[in-house]
Amino acid sequence: MSGFDRLSRPYRWMEYLSFGRALERCRFYFLPQLASTRHALLLGDGDGRFAERLLRALVDHGAPSSKAGDPSLAQETRPPKARRVVAVDSSAAMLALLRSRCAFADNLLATYVADLSQGMPDVLRGEHFDLITTHFFLDCLTTEEVKRLVADVRPRMTADARWIISEFAVPTRGAMRLPAWIVVRGLYLSFRLLTGLRAQQLPDYRSALSAYGLVLQDQTVMLGGLLTAELWRCEVRPEPLES
Ligand SMILES: C[S@@+](CC[C@H](N)C(=O)[O-])C[C@H]1O[C@@H](n2cnc3c(N)ncnc32)[C@H](O)[C@@H]1O
Repeated sequence: MSGFDRLSRPYRWMEYLSFGRALERCRFYFLPQLASTRHALLLGDGDGRFAERLLRALVDHGAPSSKAGDPSLAQETRPPKARRVVAVDSSAAMLALLRSRCAFADNLLATYVADLSQGMPDVLRGEHFDLITTHFFLDCLTTEEVKRLVADVRPRMTADARWIISEFAVPTRGAMRLPAWIVVRGLYLSFRLLTGLRAQQLPDYRSALSAYGLVLQDQTVMLGGLLTAELWRCEVRPEPLES
């Protein structure tokens, strides 16, 4: 049983009690830009609040939902679009909640239980994604584990792919540095007790993404720098000049 299984039901309320809607605002910050997504990979999406919002956006944008009646009729009136959302998490209980929340679009959804600290599951090796999301998940991994995951995911990203990240952060200076450090330490201690989480500090995910040719394209910070929402893209290498 994953340490996160027993947290799956209270998780949402624990979050609202500690941070109000701040994490939700961070998670959904880039959502308005994602409706054209074709093939999304949601890593550690937990109870599926982001998955639900993304799937609603895809359905509103023309992907046939399982509630649309006979899928063959839906495809007659709308051009068929290959839309798919894949969610991977080590907690079967979190994935069960995600699936029930996203039942309206289960024809677009696939879920896999896997420990991502060991890299991507083999079953997904042949797939390519134009959206990767990690909302408050990379902080469950060490820097080495993040590097391994990025090394696995990067070859599966299409040229136009985006990687959306929500994370905690400790500002390098300013009045929020100490309070943010205290909050992050407190979170790691709580998650160690509640779930047995091994990671005990924020990983250096930015170096790992940069090392694999991703560039930070857009970012917003919230709560004085304690939260960051980031949009990363594959680096566009200039065409070599003809001589
Ligand atoms: C802190 S929760 C974040 C959940 C959600 N993304 C959010 O924004 O609230 C971390 C999630 O990552 C999953 N997780 C933690 N370690 C994992 C691992 N090594 N492999 C796969 N999933 C993991 C947990 O089961 C949980 O669903």
